[in-house]
Amino acid sequence: MKVYIPLDSAAVALGADEVAAAVQAEAARRGVPVEIVRNGSHGMVWLEPLVEVVTGAGRVGFGPMTVADVPGLFGDIAAHPRALGQVAELPWMKGQTRLTFARVGVIDPLSLAEYEAQGGLSGLRRALGMDKAGIVAEVTASGLRGRGGAGFPTGIKWKTVSEAVADRKYIVCNADEGDSATFADRMLMEGDPFTLIEGMIIAGLATGATKGFVYIRSEYPVAIRVMQAACDLARDAGLLGASVMGSGHRFDIEIRVGAGAYVCGEETSLLNSLEGKRGVVRAKPPLPALEGFMGKPTVVNNVISLATVPAIFEKGAAYYKDFGLGRSRGTIPLQIAGNVRFGGLYETAFGLTLGQIVDDIAGGCASGRPVKAVQVGGPLGAYHPRAQFDTPFGYEEFAGQGGLIGHAGLTVFDDSADMLKQARFAMEFCAIESCGKCTPCRIGAVRGTETIDRIAKGDAAAIPLLTDLCNTMKAGSLCALGGFTPYPVMSALTHFPDDFSPMKEAAE
Ligand SMILES: Cc1cc2nc3c(=O)[nH]c(=O)nc-3n(C[C@H](O)[C@H](O)[C@H](O)COP(=O)(O)O)c2cc1C
Ligand code: SF4
Repeated sequence: MKVYIPLDSAAVALGADEVAAAVQAEAARRGVPVEIVRNGSHGMVWLEPLVEVVTGAGRVGFGPMTVADVPGLFGDIAAHPRALGQVAELPWMKGQTRLTFARVGVIDPLSLAEYEAQGGLSGLRRALGMDKAGIVAEVTASGLRGRGGAGFPTGIKWKTVSEAVADRKYIVCNADEGDSATFADRMLMEGDPFTLIEGMIIAGLATGATKGFVYIRSEYPVAIRVMQAACDLARDAGLLGASVMGSGHRFDIEIRVGAGAYVCGEETSLLNSLEGKRGVVRAKPPLPALEGFMGKPTVVNNVISLATVPAIFEKGAAYYKDFGLGRSRGTIPLQIAGNVRFGGLYETAFGLTLGQIVDDIAGGCASGRPVKAVQVGGPLGAYHPRAQFDTPFGYEEFAGQGGLIGHAGLTVFDDSADMLKQARFAMEFCAIESCGKCTPCRIGAVRGTETIDRIAKGDAAAIPLLTDLCNTMKAGSLCALGGFTPYPVMSALTHFPDDFSPMKEAAE
């Protein structure tokens, strides 16, 4: 008997380890030999722990599983109350275009043989046959833009590092993933770590970098363990080290663990942290691409940006670019969370409307109440009302609505949400997480929190003051923490003015 039970942190939080132990114990009790594969999650968090049993008709899913449901897996499984049928056939899975996440949930994350059998390493093999300029041109042609939040074209960043002259260059993978409602980086690292390793090696070939770092937040112990194990396996297999696949190109990867600060996801803060310094933002210029880690040319890319590169090389830039809309090319792993019926990861071409995502895919609010607002793009993203549900998911499209897509996390709120409290939360978050380098953010966020408290007490004269302060933070902050905190604050104020009204308390 072969059973897949996710090692993914979300599945583990919901009881996957206990279910795995129960499967082992039940098999021993019945004398049935069992092989348990700890795979990544398919991304349907409401069905976790989602167990799959290999049958003559393929992998049959069961979820959400409890320990009490385990004995039933050894009987007539068709009659099992948690039976879901084949996971690949579930509507959530069938609706997706899985390019970056094609193997997540499917393979044993630490089996290089399974990785290769499912298309892994074919991108790297192709890249090894190209020169640096050719690799950079392919990434540029794909239209790939940074998935960490800023949406900067990956090809241009790689070109800058590739053309810089230096004795050492670096690839830094940003796996800090601090945005609320986001988990794509974690899921990818836990479920298909070799894809990230392959993407980083290709980045090394493109730029002449010989060393890579993966900077992972300490709150991700499973991802840290899986990435470390995958790097060791890759080194043993000759993928990493002095001669990548015997090509003569040197590239190795080191895993580094961040101590936990939102601002350490900002690339220059991250570089300081990586150098053992305090995580404080550096002024730009110089760009990290020219003077990054230890003053050397450095590519800093998000996990998903790098993990998408192998698919681009395997399938071709034109294939990838064909998906999407406008200047948002390819696919995006949406991370749907908050008050929703169906939360999880959904990879799709850019272009679905916010309404399609929230109403059709996420099934509306778990509470059964109407959706009031959706915060898109993490703690620096705007709150979007239903009136903006026609907005297609794309970088420019959300910017046009006073927002951003960030790392593609969506947090859904029902009509019981108090948007003044959410605006206060945004300001307070900024005050707590500010690195302190610049005044508009360090002082402004504290004053902003106080000003919202005044509005909450019925002081309507504080509303223009808040607007003024937001404009100052937007224009005068050194990085996007102070510069974008006005997005959630001002969108809450603009779209939900009743929640800021001095009459509110009287009405309540
Ligand atoms: C306050 C702040 C936090 C950030 N956090 C992250 C993060 O957790 N992960 C990430 O990839 N990018 C984060 N970024 C964006 C990075 O600075 C940078 O743009 C990104 O790592 C570049 O990679 P990409 O081009 O592949 O997106 C953050 C930016 C700011 C201002
Ligand atoms: S905006 Fe805030 S986090 Fe960014 S540099 Fe200024 S003080 Fe630091």
